[in-house]
Amino acid sequence: MADLRKNYVISHGFDESGRLHLQQWLWRSQLGWNIHPAIELSKSGGVRIADHGCGNAAWLLSIASELEREQYSHVSFFGFDVAGVHYPASQNIPQNVKLGILDAFADNIPEEHVGQYDVVHVRVFTAVVKNNDPKPLIRNAYKMLKPGGYLQWDEFDGGSFKAVAPGSNPDTSSVTVAATQEMLDTSLQSSQRAMNLKYSWVGMLGSLFEQCGLDVIEEKRMDVKNELRKAMTDSLLMMLSHVARIAVRDGNMIGTDKNWNELWTKAGDEIGQGVSITMDMLVVVGRKPLD
Ligand SMILES: C[S@@+](CC[C@H](N)C(=O)[O-])C[C@H]1O[C@@H](n2cnc3c(N)ncnc32)[C@H](O)[C@@H]1O
Repeated sequence: MADLRKNYVISHGFDESGRLHLQQWLWRSQLGWNIHPAIELSKSGGVRIADHGCGNAAWLLSIASELEREQYSHVSFFGFDVAGVHYPASQNIPQNVKLGILDAFADNIPEEHVGQYDVVHVRVFTAVVKNNDPKPLIRNAYKMLKPGGYLQWDEFDGGSFKAVAPGSNPDTSSVTVAATQEMLDTSLQSSQRAMNLKYSWVGMLGSLFEQCGLDVIEEKRMDVKNELRKAMTDSLLMMLSHVARIAVRDGNMIGTDKNWNELWTKAGDEIGQGVSITMDMLVVVGRKPLD
């Protein structure tokens, strides 16, 4: 099993679990669904849905209760993560939701998972994918799918991170974004250096799906809705402050002659006047051919 502390830097604490609940609310509010409307689930038979890197299982629990209401009680849900630190108690979740340990990038996916799932879901893996290459995960998901099954990947594009002034025409706003942008650039460059992160794969997900044998049925890029900008800003600030503090601790803070507190205080002033931090949201859905 992969060592989470070496491979993934985001916190194991309650603050990160709380952020993941916020993130689930944000994605569900943006999209209006958990599972893409083009994904057809059988009305009968043992439908199985898996979620890689499921965190605190917020997506699985949300979709489980949605499908329950829509009379899909024959669906079973399987959440996997390299560490179950954020998992709710098994006694507190529905019986058709099971949580286990699985490395999404494992060289050999255990035989018990091969060809077993109607849907495999992945969300927000920008800090998880290494060497700019998500293909090992896509190949594993492909193996796990039944013929005709779907891979749905929801992602933030770290390459499109920006500070935005309030209102629908930020260009004419009197509120400046310079300090927030500087804080953002510094935190991002520092965390990229600390973790060797690259984001160019995000915009190529559709073609990477195809290279791995999936038929792409949706590839969608969105700006976050204006009314969700505040939630996105709060969520990203929580993540950035954690990641960038690690960069400072490890001597990887770069790109500025200002100190950490000065940078964040000035950005905080702008954010208090309505400046948001946003990045593009992407959804890519692929289908494994029916043999
Ligand atoms: C940003 S969180 C996203 C959680 C969840 N997908 C969501 O959207 O709420 C990334 C998750 O990936 C998990 N993770 C990191 N490396 C992984 C790996 N190699 N295989 C599976 N999960 C991994 C982390 O433990 C964490 O729970």
